[in-house]
Amino acid sequence: MPCPLRGTARYGKGMEDDSAVIEQFRAAVDRRLADLLPDRTARPARLAEAARYAVLSPGKRFRPMLTLLTAREFGAEPLTALDAACAFEMVHAASLILDDLPSMDDAALRRGRATTHREFDEATAILAAVGLLNQAFGVIAADERLTDAARAALLRRLSDSVGFEGLVSGQALDLNDRDHVRTPDDIDLLNHRKTGVLMVAAAEAGALIAGAPPASVDAVGEFARRLGLAFQIQDDLIDAAVIAESGKDLGKDAAMTTLVTALGPQEAAAAVGAHLAAAGAALSEAGATGLLARYAFGLFEARKAAA
Ligand code: IPE
Ligand code: IPE
Ligand code: MG
Ligand code: MG
Repeated sequence: MPCPLRGTARYGKGMEDDSAVIEQFRAAVDRRLADLLPDRTARPARLAEAARYAVLSPGKRFRPMLTLLTAREFGAEPLTALDAACAFEMVHAASLILDDLPSMDDAALRRGRATTHREFDEATAILAAVGLLNQAFGVIAADERLTDAARAALLRRLSDSVGFEGLVSGQALDLNDRDHVRTPDDIDLLNHRKTGVLMVAAAEAGALIAGAPPASVDAVGEFARRLGLAFQIQDDLIDAAVIAESGKDLGKDAAMTTLVTALGPQEAAAAVGAHLAAAGAALSEAGATGLLARYAFGLFEARKAAA
């Protein structure tokens, strides 16, 4: 299916209202996801409905925004990266479906709605998650706007971010030995794998699509690694009800050590600040101090302000 936004005008840096660009990108992601996902004529319709339900529900779209804004930062027509951005959101949505299952966090509420296995059933939810993970690879493989080299680099990163040093291992670390005391280093590894790696892949993808030099791709990766660590600690502050955010179950981490339980909420909040400062320094090194930084850091401020 052709990309509906091919040929959309390039945005001049510093010329536009930030929120208008953000909203345009977010809307583009939602429209493209709706096009890419199997529709209700697919068989079985229930599986397609479950996948659409999980992906199109109202999330922040943080990972696809990282891809689009990083691509833009390095001079690409940002919507060249639209399909890749959508692939990262598909993986993220799949990870949420699995994370909420009774065998994992056993959550009832996600994005203000019933979790996918509660709205449908467990088997349908698992199959929708596997289908989404699979489709993410297909979307990138079929993206003719990418060079062969960019496609291969993105597929490799996507594979790394899902695999045995990525999301699935992070989730296993999270679920195993929950009653063991974890050191801050253990927690960093767990947080990086369950949350950071996908953000690293999403941000590096934008830089790769834009043809940024390797040093800039690495610096963007370090930015996203720090951002991921900060994001998961902030998520743990939300889970512990230190920061208010509605729409999902809270208290699901109560039985395990997070940085919030290990260090206390104040030190955990300080760790968020330290990671964000390091993330900002990495972006400066890459010369990427525009809307990407304002968006990423603004999101943390907005969540803190909601506390
Ligand atoms: C939730 O991610 C899971 C974590 C990695 C902490 P988000 O906070 O980005 O969730 P949505 O996509 O906005 O629902
Ligand atoms: C976040 O796990 C990482 C995922 C892969 C979903 P959490 O269990 O901490 O995330 P929430 O709080 O349910 O969104
Ligand atoms: Mg979890
Ligand atoms: Mg959870």
